[in-house]
Amino acid sequence: MVVEIKNLVKTYKNGVKALNKLNFQVREGEIFGLLGPNGSGKTTAINCLLALLNYEEGDIRVFDQEMKATSYNLKKDIGLVSQNIAVFTELTVYENIDYFCGLYINDKTLRKKLVEEAIDFVSLNDFKKFFPKKLSGGLLRRLHIACGIAHKPKLIIFDEPTAGVDPQSRNKILEGIKRLNEEGATIIYTTHYMEEVEELCDYIIIMDKGSVIREGTKLELIDSIKIGEINEIELNNHSTELIKDIKKLANVLSAVYDNRLLIVKSGKGKSNLIDILDLIKKHNLEFIRMHSKLPTLNDVFLEITGKELRD
Ligand SMILES: Nc1ncnc2c1ncn2[C@@H]1O[C@H](COP(=O)(O)OP(=O)(O)OP(=O)(O)O)[C@@H](O)[C@H]1O
Ligand SMILES: [Mg+2]
Repeated sequence: MVVEIKNLVKTYKNGVKALNKLNFQVREGEIFGLLGPNGSGKTTAINCLLALLNYEEGDIRVFDQEMKATSYNLKKDIGLVSQNIAVFTELTVYENIDYFCGLYINDKTLRKKLVEEAIDFVSLNDFKKFFPKKLSGGLLRRLHIACGIAHKPKLIIFDEPTAGVDPQSRNKILEGIKRLNEEGATIIYTTHYMEEVEELCDYIIIMDKGSVIREGTKLELIDSIKIGEINEIELNNHSTELIKDIKKLANVLSAVYDNRLLIVKSGKGKSNLIDILDLIKKHNLEFIRMHSKLPTLNDVFLEITGKELRD
């Protein structure tokens, strides 16, 4: 096991209980997703995992060894791409990466090779001599990533690496993470964007209020809730009778009309699509378009907590 966290409890000095019996395990070679809304304790969990923060209770093991503040032999195999960008403004792109890589790699020839590879990896070849101030938000994120991965760690932790970047840089970052994983690194990916977790992660834990509220693969998570199908129908006009009739259908869990959109959530098994269309016809209503989709991780979160992943 690459990471094993048992019953972790962390209370900050101001009394906020950020982690409340947190448990999870990360297996070798996977892209592990830590999904949770703002303030659910993701960054706190990462900082405890790296022994950067003290905690009151719990056990943390990394690469099958106890993780302590002084576990330098473990830390050299871990790369952190922290949530807040931390690079030196007075150093160039090259010098920044060289500095962070140098914390772990003393051999100059090897380090030069690793720094060049990291620059290549985040496509900053044309910006080696630039100072951070001259980089756009997306390029700065990429520099920050290069600093965290240049020493080729076996475990790489990304804490919301796409926050505030444009879609093009975002895709580059996600592709890069997939490549690092293909090259053998185990990845922990933290975010509150469920689309990223759905696209990237082999295994996902959903956190809320400092503990895991559900976990599994994307399909297992979606399979774990009552909803099996969501039909969205754009209607020109509205009728309470239609909604009443739809709610009477055997498999329907809920039907809500809001701003010309009728959203019908149904249970697993038989699709309600044809029956809903028949009812719209029967009530002489006009529909503009309609589509049928599978539930998402947001629906999983909504069903368990009663609130949306994103505020
Ligand atoms: N240094 C601190 N002192 C006091 N409270 C803190 C501190 N850092 C975090 N908290 C609180 O602990 C809780 C968990 O915060 P944390 O940053 O771990 O959440 P997160 O899931 O990473 O959120 P985000 O998605 O916004 O990054 C929040 O209620 C936060 O306000
Ligand atoms: Mg955070």
